[in-house]
Amino acid sequence: MNLNLTTKNTGADVEIILVKNKKIKSDAKLLESIGFTGKDEECVLLPELKKIYVGCEEPKDKESIKIAVATAIKKLNSTNFKSATIKSKDNLSSYIEGLELGNYTFTKYKSKQDEKDEKNIYIQVENIDKDIQKEFEETIAICDAVNLTKDFVNTAPDDFFPDIMAKEAIKIAKENSLECKILDEDYLEKNGMNAMLAVGRASRHKSKLIHLTYKPKKKAKYKIALVGKGLTYDSGGLSLKPADFMVSMKSDKSGGSAVLGIMSAISALDLPIEVHGIVGAVENMIGGDAYKPDDVLVAKNGTTIEVRNTDAEGRLVLADCLCYAQDEIKDLDYIFDYATLTGACVVGVGHYTSGIMGNNTQLNHKFIEHSLEAGELATTLPFNRYLRKTIKSEIADISNIANTRYGGAITAGMFLDNFIKDKNKDKWIHIDIAGPAYVESAWGYNSVGASGAGVRMSIEFFKNL
Ligand code: BES
Ligand code: ZN
Ligand code: ZN
Repeated sequence: MNLNLTTKNTGADVEIILVKNKKIKSDAKLLESIGFTGKDEECVLLPELKKIYVGCEEPKDKESIKIAVATAIKKLNSTNFKSATIKSKDNLSSYIEGLELGNYTFTKYKSKQDEKDEKNIYIQVENIDKDIQKEFEETIAICDAVNLTKDFVNTAPDDFFPDIMAKEAIKIAKENSLECKILDEDYLEKNGMNAMLAVGRASRHKSKLIHLTYKPKKKAKYKIALVGKGLTYDSGGLSLKPADFMVSMKSDKSGGSAVLGIMSAISALDLPIEVHGIVGAVENMIGGDAYKPDDVLVAKNGTTIEVRNTDAEGRLVLADCLCYAQDEIKDLDYIFDYATLTGACVVGVGHYTSGIMGNNTQLNHKFIEHSLEAGELATTLPFNRYLRKTIKSEIADISNIANTRYGGAITAGMFLDNFIKDKNKDKWIHIDIAGPAYVESAWGYNSVGASGAGVRMSIEFFKNL
């Protein structure tokens, strides 16, 4: 799809028309005769009139616009028309998101590739000034980042293991003039990152620690570390997942993929922030060399961890990566981590919402506000003193699972808190994206599979710093 911004009537093949508040303003008789009422996700093509009508029940809600536009672009894609115009008086970025995200498909593994020409889409606005042009370009950069994240997550685990993830990071660094460090298992060993190392031990793929850095041309006002769980596959390890739960665990790299996605867009946004993207790329497998329940691991900060379940591996990888970020980067203002960390988070808040955790209630709420503004559902999952006791260990400093069945998203978040230095307690947010990162059916303008969760919420937060 080619997106163009225009002020003129372009004479495109088709016009896309949003019917707002169920008020049909043109072709009313015809639309009524075919039963079109303008409900959300309702869409008709009138081929002879060369018009696509789509419902947008709540035009004040940006999500409603995005869903309408996404529905229309899918309709257009089912035809041989080559171009379309859509008018946007305001909310330009919502139109762009609806088009760019709604148009996404993942066809890498289809042996017959669709040979239809790329569509030309013209967004017709009243005038184009510097601000509009900037909004246009930035929104496309953000959508490209979301779609890149989806591509990573959707790729099969045998085609996307830690070394490939590292290569993708190097590519992003080259294209965006970022610094890039790829640290191997020797580094992890020398630096006491034994929790992360243990998780990857039974895999034929060596673990990688990825560290990308963006430094702005202007003086940075804030220094931010983004840490991502990059489990390129999570079989559960010796605490093996049941067959039905293992399917889709290629998506356990979603946190790390979101971090790479964010880093791919950050230079296009030209913000006065220094951003570090750190990804623990690891595969959790079984084998004679696998780490075991009953093992005790010593993390980078010296904390000893009793392993009671090898499927609670993400927190082990993140523990060392969070320590790395705080040891290697001085004077951080914010530390965010992104992870498909717990099934409990999905049970608690459903598939479409991320769980936001941390010690700083105000920061949690501020982050959620920006997330909702960006079109990503998120809610706070508060820590408490009682659940904190459930991850105590009899033989080590801490256990990698709680002794209760309930509140698993929160206990996982509080496990991570053990690896946040006192001076950083208020600067850290943990984002459990286990629900929205990967859904095996399409929802709104998100296609089946990966959604790129974490990317838009974070960029919206950065823009508002
Ligand atoms: N990657 C999973 C969490 C997950 C589950 C993500 C479903 C997406 C969808 C994580 O590593 C895991 O297995 N967590 C366990 C923790 C438990 C052993 C304490 C879980 O949620 O069951
Ligand atoms: Zn797991
Ligand atoms: Zn996992």
